[in-house]
Amino acid sequence: MRYLTFALPKGRLAMKTLSILEQIGITCEEMKDPDSRKLIFVNEELKLKFFLAKATDVPTYVEYGAADIGVVGKDTIIEESRKLYEVIDLGLGKCRMCVAGPASAKDLLNHGELIRVATKYPNIAKDYFYNVKHQTVEIIKLNGSIELAPIVGLSEVIVDIVETGSTLRENGLEVLEEICPLSARMVVNQVSMKMEQERIQKIIADLKSVIG
Ligand code: PRP
Repeated sequence: MRYLTFALPKGRLAMKTLSILEQIGITCEEMKDPDSRKLIFVNEELKLKFFLAKATDVPTYVEYGAADIGVVGKDTIIEESRKLYEVIDLGLGKCRMCVAGPASAKDLLNHGELIRVATKYPNIAKDYFYNVKHQTVEIIKLNGSIELAPIVGLSEVIVDIVETGSTLRENGLEVLEEICPLSARMVVNQVSMKMEQERIQKIIADLKSVIG
């Protein structure tokens, strides 16, 4: 039997995913050590491998078949639009993709003005403004702390993830429009789905029964 390989996003989501996998008998004790810097873990008995990748790279590993299965946020799945199967909503890391900004920016969205939009998600922002709102905008790609952009005058609004809303609130910003709900999903390589159908389908079915 060959190894089935999982790509998990480094950090909290990996640990939460592990605890869901434990409920269906898939374990990896070694990975639970919070001080470890190791990136690859093996469960010899079950012939499983797990590796920790940067979240935004998980779809890439899965599309190329370096991992058979991946766990990643819906935001990254949409943004990366890789060829893969999205098989289960794990219900973890629930949040929303939103257009946010100061309350004063609301009018700019309603009147279709040419505005600047700062975001870590240029494809999602482009799709929303061009195809949903039919509004011409200038997209400015940033890599983090997106909330800064409208405060320091880099952009009028942002497209970003909102979970509790605290970051917006504490910076005098608010949700102006909601783009879509987000959560962590399990994704599968398209060839692995055929070649390892039985094992993968069993994992999917078991997960569905514990997620409910
Ligand atoms: C995310 C997101 C928001 C914040 C939202 O940032 O980009 O800034 O979390 O969470 P809240 O609604 O609960 O306040 P992250 O911590 O991933 O950091 P970065 O985008 O600045 O890298």
